[in-house]
Amino acid sequence: MTMHPATAELRCIECGTICASPNANFRCGTCGDLLEVVQPDLQTVIGASSGVEKLKQVWLSRRTSRLPVDQSGVWRFREVLPFVDPLHVITLREGNTPLYEMPRCGRIAGVRNLFAKHQGMNPTGSFKDTGMTTAASVALAGHYRWVACASTGNTSASMAAYAARGNLRSLVLIPEGKISWSKLSQSLDYGAVTCQLKTDFDGCVRVLHEVVQRMPVYLLNSVNPYRLEGQKTAALEILEQMNWLVPDHVIVPGGNLANSSALGKAFQEMHSLGFIRTLPKISIIQAEGANPLVRTMREKGGRELISVQAETLATAIRIGHPASWKKAVRVLEATGGAVEEVSEAEMALAKAEIGAEGIGCEPASAVTLAGLRKLVTSGFVKSHESVVLVLTGHLLKDPDFTLDFHRGELRVADRQAAMLASSRRAPIILEATADAVTRTLQDIDSSANA
Ligand code: F0G
Repeated sequence: MTMHPATAELRCIECGTICASPNANFRCGTCGDLLEVVQPDLQTVIGASSGVEKLKQVWLSRRTSRLPVDQSGVWRFREVLPFVDPLHVITLREGNTPLYEMPRCGRIAGVRNLFAKHQGMNPTGSFKDTGMTTAASVALAGHYRWVACASTGNTSASMAAYAARGNLRSLVLIPEGKISWSKLSQSLDYGAVTCQLKTDFDGCVRVLHEVVQRMPVYLLNSVNPYRLEGQKTAALEILEQMNWLVPDHVIVPGGNLANSSALGKAFQEMHSLGFIRTLPKISIIQAEGANPLVRTMREKGGRELISVQAETLATAIRIGHPASWKKAVRVLEATGGAVEEVSEAEMALAKAEIGAEGIGCEPASAVTLAGLRKLVTSGFVKSHESVVLVLTGHLLKDPDFTLDFHRGELRVADRQAAMLASSRRAPIILEATADAVTRTLQDIDSSANA
């Protein structure tokens, strides 16, 4: 296959073997561990682009171009993505997502400088698009006909869209009844062959790994290292949006643990290339019921994965056996980040708070704010430090969760239900008269002033 030009190589994260042609599961042929993209001549590329400051300007100025590849918030950073011809990529103009100030949530959490990088503002509503444009483009360059993924819903939505744009056929394996219907509807609309398997996400991954060994199907799960390369660009955008001043903390939800790994890789690369002088601490937050990384760090010091039977209403991160755990552990160690877990009620409350700031996100993204509150309480995050929450999915990705929350129907432990009550804004059913509506407004005003 002619898809990896000389500048980028795949290297095993454990034994360092360079892998010229990866197997279907993107595992090292020598030791079976994960692969990562390395670019030995990156420093030379930066030099050829007249250095760091010039490259920062080039990346920013591409936003005003009319070329699709420049308008993409991923491919405008193409100097650090040297594995496909940029003129033949599949792009939906992903990336270029907003970095919002979050003063209200900041006050609640106890930090003065809180920001949200909203990756839910991508074309299919999640951060997955930034990695899908890169990996799907590699599939296209490799002349594959089929691409496939196992998913909790967002990867599949994204893959289906990019496959459709690139005239590739796509196969989606999802756990039956355990993904939100809006994500399911996306993969149907984009034309994927969508199979609901009677298992969980981890079971879907196992089935798919067999399928790709039997058929010439290109795997687009996040073990595919090209996914992580695209996802790295969110870190570059955060730095650009903060005028290359490094935030003290970046807080990410943890599921299969690829995104935290990708962001960590990006900050480390930017550091070693001289774009930044310090690293942000990257902290990873999981749901209590899907906490393999938290347990792995606390009980095994990050040396050995503890898998769990995952259960959480945040179906996006309902993952018990995360593929990229080792990469994530290394990011935690390299950046000095923390791991934390949050209850269903803490997550639901945080989601309502992000919503009340006019931003909104899906439940899995809200673990970041809930986790931040805990990290401030424990003293790990100081009130004067700057913090970026990575919001991974759009509010509309999981409307059932939001409606259940506001109607008081969310399934959370009884002892925690009370703490949610004051944040609920249930719909009000009224007679169709102006009187009924004005009376309601007056009642609300008088109870607010009481
Ligand atoms: N947030 C959302 C909204 C997600 O969809 C996912 C993962 C994560 C966070 C966790 O990211 O896996 O890189 O640690 N969703 C995958 C999927 C597993 O299939 O859509 P991660």
